[in-house]
Amino acid sequence: MKTAFITGITGQDGAYLAKFLLEKGYKVHGGVRRISQPETTRLDLLGVTNQVELHEFDLAEQNNIFRVIRDLEIDEFYNLAAQSFVGASWELPIYTADVDAMAVVKILDTIRSLSPQTRFYQASTSEMFGLVQEVPQSETTRLYPRSPYGVAKVYGHYITMNYRESFDMHASSGILFNHESPLRGKEFVTRKITLGLAALARGGDAAIELGNMDAKRDWGFAGDYVEGMWHMLQQDVPDDYVLATGVTTTIRDFFTAAGTALGMDIEWSGEGEDETATDKKSGKQVMKVNPKFYRPAEVDLLIGDPTKALTKLGWKPKVTVNELAEMMAKSDYDALG
Ligand code: NAP
Ligand code: GDD
Repeated sequence: MKTAFITGITGQDGAYLAKFLLEKGYKVHGGVRRISQPETTRLDLLGVTNQVELHEFDLAEQNNIFRVIRDLEIDEFYNLAAQSFVGASWELPIYTADVDAMAVVKILDTIRSLSPQTRFYQASTSEMFGLVQEVPQSETTRLYPRSPYGVAKVYGHYITMNYRESFDMHASSGILFNHESPLRGKEFVTRKITLGLAALARGGDAAIELGNMDAKRDWGFAGDYVEGMWHMLQQDVPDDYVLATGVTTTIRDFFTAAGTALGMDIEWSGEGEDETATDKKSGKQVMKVNPKFYRPAEVDLLIGDPTKALTKLGWKPKVTVNELAEMMAKSDYDALG
C-alpha cells in the first residue's frame, strides 16, 4: 500500500484527490489547519472523512512540515495547500508569499534531507501566464504573473524545477488551468454565479454582482484534474505538465450556460459598468456589475495547450465547460430544495 500526504486536503482539489487515491488503494494522510471548528465539509460530501488520517498542519510552520515528513514514510507528497484566491492576494501579499512560495522550498528541502525517495507534486497554475505572451499557453510559454498570488506561484514553480535539477529529486509541477466543481469555494466566479442563479431560480430576487465580464478562462472539472496530478507522479522521469481543456469561455458565456441549465432565458444589455442580464422568462434582473470586483491588474485570457499531458500522461479532460456549468448549477439548485 502506498502512502500519500496531501496538504490542503480540506480544499476542493484535496478532497477529490483524497477520494481518487483511496480508490486506488493508498493510505491517505492530510494536513488541516487548526481552527476553532474543524472544517471537513468537502471530505464529508465525498464520504471519505473517516478513511483519511488528518494531521494538524500549517504551511507557515516549518516544524509541521518537518514532523510529517520525518514520521510518515510518504511515497507521494501533493502540495495543494495555498492562499488560492487571486483577488485576496493584493490584501494579503506577504502571507500569500509565505504560504504559496516560501513553504514550497521548506517542503522540498525537508524531503531532500529526510526522505529523498518521496515524490513531490507542486500545484502550479495558469495564473503564472498572467499577461499572456503566447496563445495558447504551454509548458514553454514565458511567465508574466499579474497578481501577488501569481508571483508567489512562479517562485514555487521554479524552486520545484530547481530542486529537481539540483538534487535529482522526483519533483513535478502541474500547471493547471482553472478547474471547478460543486465543491468550488464560494468566492470564485463560477460558484458565485451558480449559487446566485440557484437562489434566483428558487424564488430569490437578488441580482448577482460581478466584476469584469470579459475575462476568459479555460475551465475544466476538478475531478478530472486530480487524476492528472497522480499520473505525473507515476512517471519514471519527473517533469512539468499543463492540464487544460484547450477551450476558453468568457464569464458572460459561463453565466448564460449556468442560467440555461436552470431553465432561464438570459438576455444581455449595456456595456462595461452598465452591463446587466435579465431572465426573460421571469423578468428578473439576474446580474449587475459592481466595480468593487474589478482587480488592480487583470488576467484577460487563459487558454491552455494540454498536448504534452495528452500524449505523455494519457490524460484527457472528460467534462466540457457547458456540462460543468450545468453540474454546478443543478447541484446548487438541489441543495436549496
Ligand atoms: P482551495 O479550495 O482554496 O483549497 C486550499 C487548501 O489550502 C484548503 O484546504 C486550505 O485549508 C489550505 N490552506 C490554505 N492556507 C493554508 C496554510 N497556511 N496551511 C495549511 N493549509 C492551508 O484551493 P483548490 O482550488 O483546491 O486549489 C488547490 C491548489 O491548486 C492551490 O494551491 C491552488 O493555488 C492551485 N490551483 C488551483 C486551480 C483551480 O482552478 N482550482 C488552478 C491552478 C492551481 P482551509 O480549508 O483551512 O482553508
Ligand atoms: N472571483 C470573482 N468574483 N471573479 C470575478 C468576479 C467576481 O465577482 N467578476 C468577474 N470575475 C473575473 C475575475 O476578474 C477573473 O478574471 C475571473 O473572473 C476568474 O476569477 P476567479 O474565479 O476568482 O479565478 P481566477 O482565475 O482568478 O483564479 C483561479 O484560477 C487560477 C488558475 O488560473 C483560482 O483557482 C486560482 O487559485 C488558480 O490558480
